[in-house]
This record gives sequence, C-alpha cells and structure tokens, in this order.
Amino acid sequence: MPAATDQRPDQLSPWQAQAMSVPESMDLFLGGGRGPGKTYTLAAMFLRHAEQHGPRARCLVVRKSFPGLQDIEAEFLEYFTAVYGSALRHDGQKHRFTLPGGATIQLDQLEREPDFQKYQGKSFSHIAVDESGQYASPVLVDRLRSSLRAPVGVPVRFFILANPGGQGHHWLVRRYAQRASWKPYVCPATGADFVTISATYRDNEFIDRDKYAKNLMAACATDPELAKAWLDGDWSVLRGAYFSNVIDEHRNMVEPWPKLPPRRGYDPYDDVEPWHTYLAHDFGSAAPSVTYLCAESPGAEWEGFFYPRGSIVLVAEEATVHPDDDNQGLGLTVPDQASRILSMCKRWECDPRGVADDAIFNKTGSQSGSIGDEFRRAGVSFSRAKKGARISGWQVMRRLLSDAGQPDKPGLYISRSCRYWWQTVPSLPRDHRNPEDVDSTAPDHAADACRYALTREKWATSIKVQFPN
Ligand SMILES: Nc1ncnc2c1ncn2[C@@H]1O[C@H](COP(=O)(O)OP(=O)(O)OP(=O)(O)O)[C@@H](O)[C@H]1O
Ligand SMILES: [Mg+2]
Repeated sequence: MPAATDQRPDQLSPWQAQAMSVPESMDLFLGGGRGPGKTYTLAAMFLRHAEQHGPRARCLVVRKSFPGLQDIEAEFLEYFTAVYGSALRHDGQKHRFTLPGGATIQLDQLEREPDFQKYQGKSFSHIAVDESGQYASPVLVDRLRSSLRAPVGVPVRFFILANPGGQGHHWLVRRYAQRASWKPYVCPATGADFVTISATYRDNEFIDRDKYAKNLMAACATDPELAKAWLDGDWSVLRGAYFSNVIDEHRNMVEPWPKLPPRRGYDPYDDVEPWHTYLAHDFGSAAPSVTYLCAESPGAEWEGFFYPRGSIVLVAEEATVHPDDDNQGLGLTVPDQASRILSMCKRWECDPRGVADDAIFNKTGSQSGSIGDEFRRAGVSFSRAKKGARISGWQVMRRLLSDAGQPDKPGLYISRSCRYWWQTVPSLPRDHRNPEDVDSTAPDHAADACRYALTREKWATSIKVQFPN
C-alpha cells in the first residue's frame, strides 16, 4: 500500500506537521487567512485516518455551495491520486472516493435544513465543514455532529474550516476564530474539546506567496479590510464590515441614561423644546425580534452632552435573541413580546407607540388579523416604517453614524445598554451580490429596527396624537 502522508513529513509545512500532532481526541478549527493549506491539511488527516482504520474510516466533507464542492473534489482528487495512483476509486456522480484500504470519503452539499435528512441514520468517523463561514448560523453545522459515530477503537473527529468574512463570521469569531492557536479549550456551545489553528498564506511554502498576495489584494480592491483579513488572518478587522468606517465607539456610544429627557405632555417645561420619543421594531419569532426606545433631539443637552437638532439616540433595547445564536429568536408569541415591550415602556415612562417593519401589517387571513393588529390588541401601537427604503435607509444610517460628535449636524447615538446592537451591527457583512446592501442572511435585526427608527415619517401621526401642541 502506498505510504501515508505522515510518513512523508517533508511534504508538510511546519504548521501542517504541528497540526498533525494535535491529539485526535480534539476537534479542530482551521482558521486564519486565505491559502495556508487548510484543505490540503484536511486531506492529509483523512489519509492518516483511512490508513489506520481501513473500511471503518468513513469521512464526510460538506460545503454549502455546489461550485465550492467541485473545488474541493478537484483538490482531493489531485491529492489522493498523487498518493494512490490508479488504485484510487472516484465516483464523480456520487462525489465519493474509495481508498485502496476500503476507507471512504464522501463529499456533499449541505445548504439548508431539508438537506440534512440524507444524513439521518448515517454514521461518519470524521466530519468536516469546509468554508463554514458561508453558514449564516451554526445550526446546521452543529446538527451534523449527530452523525459523528464510529465503532469502538475508531476515533471520531469534527473539523471546521473557515476564512474570515462571510455570513458566518460572527459565530465563528465568538466560538473559535479568536482563540489562541494550539491551546485546547471546550467549545461553549457544543461542549466539544477544540483546538484552533490560525495560519496564513505566508506559512505556505508551496505557493508563490508574492503572487498570491497580489491576487488576493486585487480580488478585494474595493474592500481593503477584507484584503487585510484574508492576508493576515486577522478576523477582528472585519468588525464593522458594512458600517466599518462609520462606527466608532468613542463617537457613537453613550452611557446609559437614567431617565428620558423632557417630552411634550410629560414634563412641565413649556419653555423648553421637547424631545420626541417613540419605538422602532423589527418583528421576528423564529428570528430575533428587536425593539428600540428612541429619542429625537430638539437640539438640546442631556446627561452632560449636547445632541444637535434631529439627532437620534437609541436609549433602550428589548431584544428576544437566542443566547448562542444572534440569528435565532426565542419563538415568543405576539402577546408575550408585547408584554416585554410594555414593561420597557413602563420602566421609562413612555408611550408604547412607534414604527415597525411593513410585513407585520400584512393580513394573514386568520381571525387574529395582522401581527400589527395583535400588537395593538395587546397594547402596543405600531405604524408602518417608510416603505421600500432599504438601501437608502442604510445610507441615512451611515451618514448619521459618521456625523455623530459633530456640533452642528444630527448624529446617531446608541446607548451602551443596547447590547444586541453593539454585538451585531458593527460586524454585519455586506451582501456579496450587492455591496451597497447589508447581507440579509446575517443577523441584521438590530440594524433593521435601527433603520426603521431613522426613516420613519417625521413626527408620525401616532406621536402627534399622543403629544398634541
Ligand atoms: N503540504 C503541501 N504540499 C504541497 N502543496 C500544498 C501543501 N499545502 C498546501 N499546498 C498547496 O497550496 C495551495 C493552497 O492550499 P489549500 O487550498 O489547502 O489552502 P486553503 O487554506 O484551504 O485555501 P482557501 O483559504 O482558499 O480555502 C494549494 O494549491 C495546495 O495544493
Ligand atoms: Mg480551502
């Protein structure tokens, strides 16, 4: 039988050789930047596993997109043909390799929930998710672990390969990408023992590194931050991919207010121009639901800071979000959500009125009417945020964020207490098909609610009614 790769260490770069020495009981996150040889390392690990366990070694690699799957299939074909020559069996239709000792490597596309059915009841000893940054949420990736089973004596192992950027950037950063390399830890979400390995193209002596770096820079000429992340493997520079150059905590973050400033109808400051307060809501049930208590400044000072006229402050946040997944809600009913919003309004002594996304006013045909109707019955009154304004809404948001801190221009300010906003908005990726838009599969719920707050019809009718002159 041909020799295994670990018997040919000269074929591996130093980081790849070190990766091979991580105990097999540890799952691996192969991160860093583009091109260090992550996929090649995976092939080397599969080869070693196959050589040691023969037909009991059953490997699976999934990718989200079909073209992506073809790329990895071509890489594996080249690699395993170099090792086994004509003894390798490859079924291109089924995307399956059978190695001379009987081990199998199955490549597959896993795009959405129903695709998962095909793995039910199946067992694999090694499972790898390549380009896992393409998964907006970790749900499918985690679910694959249920197929990780092997006979006694055969180690099971899970591999996550990823590059910075992409829709899954947020959960990968939180769980794996910013861990120190080579130091074992327990993944807080799955309880699995993990080791993170970060390498960059500079660690790959098998390619023309200067040329590769130039190509990477050319590939993201309009996106210097992405270029930096890919070249240096620095996942933190993509913090703020869409709003990156307009958000600055020093300018946009305000310390939590103890109470709201004077408002018409609430405070006896007749000679003081009042602030306007209102809610802005983005609805979700399976997805997160987010509501902001917003205050628009008349051009006044509050809590030691002057807010130019028209400035918007997100004062408080009510977000129903799964603790481990920014893109998942808590499945609360409308009355339950309304009751949380009412508690927030009670705490701040403000009216439960404001704007919400258009979709909640669609008639469902059911007896309860639209979601907007349900909210109204539960005591929370929403009117439509301005229609069809997604990209122009983002532009307004960018402008207000960048003008914050200027003495004569309205800005957007967000309380430190709006945790979901600070957790998600600064790192929202762009939509790769339309760089002017935010990727709508990323956790954009706080951003959406914020956008409704900024693009509402000025002095919405409901607010006029509530605070008459
Ligand atoms: N040990 C090695 N011996 C020979 N060639 C290698 C080795 N490691 C990597 N390479 C080559 O370097 C190139 C990049 O490797 P690979 O595709 O594995 O990188 P990657 O980190 O998966 O890249 P990406 O970030 O694009 O997914 C490939 O052409 C691969 O064949
Ligand atoms: Mg790769």
